[in-house]
Amino acid sequence: MELRSVEELMDLLHACRGSRNTAGHGGAPVDLHDHALQTAALLRRSRPADKELQVAGLVHVIGQLLRPGDVAGHADHAADTVRPLLGERVSRLVRLHRDGWEDDPVMEDVQTLRQADEASWASGLDAGVLEDWRTVLELVAARHARPRTVG
Ligand SMILES: [Fe+2]
Repeated sequence: MELRSVEELMDLLHACRGSRNTAGHGGAPVDLHDHALQTAALLRRSRPADKELQVAGLVHVIGQLLRPGDVAGHADHAADTVRPLLGERVSRLVRLHRDGWEDDPVMEDVQTLRQADEASWASGLDAGVLEDWRTVLELVAARHARPRTVG
């Protein structure tokens, strides 16, 4: 599956509501939709200027919805799914959030994503609603839109 629009992505993130999969996280299962919002909200707080990192935090959960139980493959699957819409960097952050190489240039950002991912389980932060992210998702998607043929 490849996402082609922010609308499709929003639908997928809405569908995470009610899905409880720990996918390798310790502790009690948490609602995936809430986990996505919490992770993104923590990243918005720690890295306010980095919209792509925030968006990576938001979408990192979708592999668990699309491939439930596939702990090893869910990050790769999510990364492949979001790449056409959100671009290479977001895809890379999502892919590496479970298993990354320490010498990869994006590892500092991956570490920040991992910290937010882990912290979100106990943050208790008011993370708002998915609709708050529509504009940010559209902004990031617009940067990676494929050139249109005019005329
Ligand atoms: Fe997570």
